[in-house]
Amino acid sequence: MKVFVRSFLCFFFIFFFLQRVICETQAESGSEHASLPPRGWNSFDSFCWTISEEEFLQNAELVAQRLHAHGYEYVVVDYLWYRRKVKGAYTDSLGFDVIDEWGRMIPDPGRWPSSRGGKGFTEVARKVHSMGLKFGIHVMRGISTQAVNANTPILDITKGSAYEESGRQWHAKDIGLTDRLCTWMPHGFMSVNTKLGAGRAFLRSLYQQYADWGVDFVKNDCVFGDDLNIDEISFVSEVLKEINRPILYSLSPGTSVTPTMAKDVSGLVNMYRITGDDWDSWGDVTAHFDVARDFSASNMIGAKGLLGKSWPDLDMLPFGWLTDPGSNEGPHRYCNLNVDEQRSQMTLWSMVKSPLMFGGDMRKLDEITFNLITNPILLEINSFSSNNMEFPHITGGKPVHLSKQGVQSNSVADVKASETHFLGLSSCKDSKSKGWSIKAIDDDLEQVCWEGNSRSKPHAPFCLYKRRPLSASDEDTMHTLQNQGKFHLHATDTMEFCLHASPKQKLTSKEFKRGSFSPCRWEANQMWELNHNGTLVNSYSGLCASLNTIKANAGSGGIRSWIATGRKGEIYLAFFNLNSEKNVITAKVSDLATVLPGKILNDASCTGTEVWSGKNYGLIKESVSIAVEVHECALLILNCN
Ligand SMILES: *[C@@H]1O[C@H](CO)[C@@H](O)[C@H](O)[C@H]1NC(C)=O
Repeated sequence: MKVFVRSFLCFFFIFFFLQRVICETQAESGSEHASLPPRGWNSFDSFCWTISEEEFLQNAELVAQRLHAHGYEYVVVDYLWYRRKVKGAYTDSLGFDVIDEWGRMIPDPGRWPSSRGGKGFTEVARKVHSMGLKFGIHVMRGISTQAVNANTPILDITKGSAYEESGRQWHAKDIGLTDRLCTWMPHGFMSVNTKLGAGRAFLRSLYQQYADWGVDFVKNDCVFGDDLNIDEISFVSEVLKEINRPILYSLSPGTSVTPTMAKDVSGLVNMYRITGDDWDSWGDVTAHFDVARDFSASNMIGAKGLLGKSWPDLDMLPFGWLTDPGSNEGPHRYCNLNVDEQRSQMTLWSMVKSPLMFGGDMRKLDEITFNLITNPILLEINSFSSNNMEFPHITGGKPVHLSKQGVQSNSVADVKASETHFLGLSSCKDSKSKGWSIKAIDDDLEQVCWEGNSRSKPHAPFCLYKRRPLSASDEDTMHTLQNQGKFHLHATDTMEFCLHASPKQKLTSKEFKRGSFSPCRWEANQMWELNHNGTLVNSYSGLCASLNTIKANAGSGGIRSWIATGRKGEIYLAFFNLNSEKNVITAKVSDLATVLPGKILNDASCTGTEVWSGKNYGLIKESVSIAVEVHECALLILNCN
């Protein structure tokens, strides 16, 4: 009877919603993991690490009421849910985490009161499930520094007691790899030695506990991209396969990831980030075009994954009411992208079939944002389109020569290749961090300059101003001796901002000018020292800086286009204008046929409608041209035969 009612409801719903509906998602979950790109909400963009149980459940309730019918299913607590929110605690502080007797992270009872009495996230998961949603958590690599310092024993879940092998008990110090710290949170976590039975037993004890709590989704951080740890990913994947609970496995972030690197992990997971953190700047949006193209060209979208499929992940959607990266503060500001830019981001994410994880605070969700993230056409494309790829055969020009036939001008779009510098932090033993030296400007002003090394391309030296930190108080002066030889680094000689090496911004992923300078303070994160071998070491993390250059040809401008086919044979064609002036973008019907062979006949003609304007383009015989505003996108639905 129950079965009958449910399938009846399914039919009932399908008539009313063309997009994914509740009953459909339920039907899926039994069989294949992530058969469609996962969709949900994540706390990071609006709360950074600071979210409380009450705030989380309020958001979850609103996801259930407003977004679940649109396929948003997972609600995920992002990082540091185990960190006490007290004075002195921040994203890379040491000593504020709550761990159990086995060195495992447990929710901070101050922020997560229902966790008291050893209940962990059980109550939160139960409430989330009662809302019809699924519950996810973020976890870091390996083991916490705090557990290693406390040298906690390791739990053997098969026996329920301390892990023993070779006639002795094993502890955190036996498995923690102190030379494999997470580079952007060096005080927080390190890898464990998965070659040891005890290392594997520890990881197993973590994931079994997550399953016991009722977790449905794990976002594993600092194991991929620049921080790749294939041993941990492989082992966790094995554990999740055996655990008696379907848990989606997600990797993050994916700085410098290439399809070649991702091929080793895509079969072990359900989604994996292919870029650094995405925030609400236009540069972050455009940085996703090239990498998305490369992954689609390698057939990685919806490839085989852990007990199902895997999806290249372009990161959360930072729209609506947000916080800042690395902040100790909850949501307090609106998204910096304008509506056109948000539309372009949402369209790209949909055309790429990226998982869609909304990041804004649900309690202040405005109508424009709501309509964008629930746009039925974009969600249909995101879930069900195929043949998704970049469509390179477009031409663009400035709209001055517009005539009835469209663009007459052959001027090539303004596709500039520019370079972006960003500061990377890595081990001082790594020879790629050599290349800094001192240059004197005058008697009391010196610069520290990066001239690169044999491994980097020659370029003009990049210099920062060097200053002895000014101590503001007696207490500070006490530190002076400790800090001899150490200095502040400034971008300009006005000395207001200091180079800051905290993982506030995961420094590996971001351009140099943003986020890595902050008001000067007397703190180890802003203290630097130059070694004799030309490495520049940060006093807090002990990591060394190097200047990296990335070619940002997509980032700086140009016109781009993506194409995909729909379930009913329709063709989706998106034009993106990344330039800072209006462009007319043109595609020829015969070129559509070359990328979608079999879908479109060579002598086809199409009819088309543009989604945002609702404009009908009538019969398109040879080509279609659309004037696209700055940072805007146009999305055509074409029917060709
Ligand atoms: C440079 O010198 C420092 C300090 O002596 C040392 O720790 C580091 O390993 C050296 N790095 C390289 C690449 O030689």
